[in-house]
Amino acid sequence: MAVKLVLSGIGKDFLIPVIDTVSFSVEAGEFVCLLGPNGCGKTTLLRIIGGIEPATRGTVLLDGKLVVADQRHDRPVGMVFQEDRLLPWMSLRDNVALVLKPLGRPLAERRAIANRYLGVVGLRGFEDYYPGRVSGGMRQRAAIARALAIEPDVLLMDEPFASLDAQNRRIMQNEVRRIWRETGRTILFVTHSIEEAVAIGTHLIMLSARPARIREAIRNDGRVERAKLIDDLNAMIMEEVERQQGGASL
Ligand SMILES: Nc1ncnc2c1ncn2[C@@H]1O[C@H](COP(=O)(O)OP(=O)(O)OP(=O)(O)O)[C@@H](O)[C@H]1O
Ligand SMILES: [Mg+2]
Repeated sequence: MAVKLVLSGIGKDFLIPVIDTVSFSVEAGEFVCLLGPNGCGKTTLLRIIGGIEPATRGTVLLDGKLVVADQRHDRPVGMVFQEDRLLPWMSLRDNVALVLKPLGRPLAERRAIANRYLGVVGLRGFEDYYPGRVSGGMRQRAAIARALAIEPDVLLMDEPFASLDAQNRRIMQNEVRRIWRETGRTILFVTHSIEEAVAIGTHLIMLSARPARIREAIRNDGRVERAKLIDDLNAMIMEEVERQQGGASL
């Protein structure tokens, strides 16, 4: 089941303020792409939503329930990181099956679920392969299968295709769109690529320079011509990058 995600006044201070105030809602089944300059707090924001990192201020509601860092939530969240984080000594099947262990599923069932989700991401026939024996794109697919296997209500993806070449990236963008259509998950997807965000997101959120605020939130419904939208977003991100670099030299 897809669920609604609500961020209200989220802020985070490390040694410096990283996130000023960020509030937005993601309706069940939306595909939101999050953009923003390097180091503006995108990963931190995903970690807060995923309950890995506590916020300094504000609240995250998942299906109306408060997310508390380090506490298990009954609405699971799947995370896909920039690196695939697969264990090299385990087959792709066992890598995926491993995340089902804490859910108390018996081994045969865990393996069956792993096989199913490896199939969903196009890895049928590669279940017994080790991560070192498949391509980067295939490893990233396995990481996506691992996130999907827990049947999360929300999928948080942090630049999952950053290490892929252009061709694999396009293939994976299509795959994620297909998985999103077929599984109806709520997706929050961080990317540096404006073209990628415009190609795959139903909604686009541009963060400002650090400390992050929302610079712009756009419904990507094709009303603005794609080339113009890309130009506008490129101009915005350049301004924010300059603002952030200006801030750093103070
Ligand atoms: N655990 C931490 N302790 C202290 N500072 C941190 C910690 N995690 C992140 N930061 C700082 O918070 C800021 C934002 O980091 P974050 O990784 O969230 O940015 P980002 O937008 O994901 O960057 P990138 O585009 O490079 O992935 C950075 O200045 C970083 O140094
Ligand atoms: Mg990051």
